[in-house]
Amino acid sequence: MSEAGLDAFIAGLPKAELHLHIEGSLEPETMFALARRNRLTLPFASVEAVRAAYAFSNLQDFLDIYYAGASVLLTEEDFFDLAIAYFRRAAADGVRHAEIFFDPQTHTDRGVPFATVADGLLGAMDEAARTLGISSRLILCFLRHLDEAAAFATLKAAEPYLDRIAGIGLDSSEVGHPPSKFARVFKAAGERGLRLTAHAGEEGPPAYVHEALDLLHVCRIDHGNRALEDAALTKRLVEAGMTLTVCPLSNLRLCVVRDMAQHPLKRMLDLGLKATVNSDDPAYFGGYVNDNFRAVAAALGLTRDEIARLARNSFTGAWLTDAEAAPHLAALDAHVAGVSG
Ligand code: ADE
Ligand code: ZN
Repeated sequence: MSEAGLDAFIAGLPKAELHLHIEGSLEPETMFALARRNRLTLPFASVEAVRAAYAFSNLQDFLDIYYAGASVLLTEEDFFDLAIAYFRRAAADGVRHAEIFFDPQTHTDRGVPFATVADGLLGAMDEAARTLGISSRLILCFLRHLDEAAAFATLKAAEPYLDRIAGIGLDSSEVGHPPSKFARVFKAAGERGLRLTAHAGEEGPPAYVHEALDLLHVCRIDHGNRALEDAALTKRLVEAGMTLTVCPLSNLRLCVVRDMAQHPLKRMLDLGLKATVNSDDPAYFGGYVNDNFRAVAAALGLTRDEIARLARNSFTGAWLTDAEAAPHLAALDAHVAGVSG
């Protein structure tokens, strides 16, 4: 298939996005607009200057600027505007279902109430369902560079919202903050009926992926790239049918891979791993989900069948019931068969 044909195939492919930090969808233009609205001064002269600062050599470089950027988010309307902009952009990429992470501690530590954040995001999720036909789930992430007590306090703050929060994630600086640090708070979250996922094996070693499985009892792994360094772990992930939420452009921008031709996504598929394609922090890494599909398809020479498999994995790995996933899978099959679905 020609590159243009493959791009059109990707564009029309129904897909779910399972690894998206809503704060990472804050485009520089929105950052300036919110700073103006909230009468804040940014340490950048222009949108171009912000974009020029997005040259990262590792995860921490990015996180420093990402947390600073999030400081323009103050009101419920800010969180609503942030999330609805993401949903509009995702809909244009054929995303039919999105499971979005948020980092409440980034906001509550600045004095923004948990309810302000949650009400804004949930309002946008409702609006996206109504006006764009996109379903979504909300995943509360604990910041792993903070301590266990802070994670427990966040779980307590979330108590009034637990019927609208699908699950718990674990993000931020990975190396030096192993999953074991959060075993007890993940257990408490699991006992409240929340689903569990964690970033593991992005920069951290395969041992962190083992810990996420054995100590946190996650049902998904976010990233998981470094699991491939451990053959027994890889086999275990294949046999468990564990979904990996892989983020190619993020991996490139954070120097997890040297160039896209070295990205492990095709190897993951060849090994039988249930990989998916996601944008992570699209405003910072140069692209939304279809940009990620296009980048890996071109660099790794993915076939139409492989691309369709990635999209299929996104629906079967989503926190949807079989009945909820079925129409998406049927639309995907129709698209693959050449019928617009
Ligand atoms: N927070 C936002 N994006 C992240 C990533 N790629 N890894 C860890 N924490 C994050
Ligand atoms: Zn992430």
